[in-house]
Amino acid sequence: MNYDIYRFGKIDSTNSYLLRLGEKGFPEGTVAVADEQTSGRGRFGRKWQAEPLSSLLFSILLRPTFLNRDEVFILTFSAAVAVADAVESVAGVKSELKWPNDILFRGRKLCGILLESNFEGDKLNHVVLGVGLNVNQTLFPDEISASAVSLSMIAGRSFDREEVLSSILFSFNDIYESLKAKDFYSIMKRWRDRSSMFGKRIKFNVAGKEFEGTLDEVGDDGAVSILTSSGVLKFTAGEITISEIYRPGTGGMK
Ligand code: BTN
Repeated sequence: MNYDIYRFGKIDSTNSYLLRLGEKGFPEGTVAVADEQTSGRGRFGRKWQAEPLSSLLFSILLRPTFLNRDEVFILTFSAAVAVADAVESVAGVKSELKWPNDILFRGRKLCGILLESNFEGDKLNHVVLGVGLNVNQTLFPDEISASAVSLSMIAGRSFDREEVLSSILFSFNDIYESLKAKDFYSIMKRWRDRSSMFGKRIKFNVAGKEFEGTLDEVGDDGAVSILTSSGVLKFTAGEITISEIYRPGTGGMK
């Protein structure tokens, strides 16, 4: 894929921008990156806020004609693996992946991914993959200070956001090209290898309902299986909360 990068000081949302360009027929590989977003958004319609210039906020326009409607999920997992690989090579940070598309470090959120698709019936027109990676923040607002972390807080130094972006784009391109062979097992294996949550007690929220259980597995179809007192439940959408408390210095989720 050839990347064509558009840079912004301030924009509403790099995802919204590329959804608009997607409608206008812009090609796959168009990238929007911004120092600041005025209407950055996350999953479940939440706001995504980041101090100007502190983090990496970007989106990639994709036209994955080789994927069916029910295969688009693989892009989120692919992006998570690409970001985790890049973060390890640029910053030496070994992150953990949380289903379906969060990147954590010791239980705190380092990066969020938002995939938005444009379909016409069953025909996939375009997909926008948005990434918000905390890079140089040294402090977070009170509401999220206990649950967020940045590369610079982990590594004790600041990072060149351009270098981090290049590394992510490079590793995403590799994975994206390999996706064309539809070997979802390899991607999901890389994802599972970076997830530290199997066997943990979790709460699962979907459509206003809450389930409690143990995270059993994430299949090659991207679905998560949870072992509950009434049997195994399988979900393709929803949100996980870790029931157990993470205690720093104990070497993992406790
Ligand atoms: C989440 O964890 O809920 C996903 C957050 C995704 C945020 C990124 S920042 C760049 C891109 N533009 C947006 O408006 N959202 C994504």
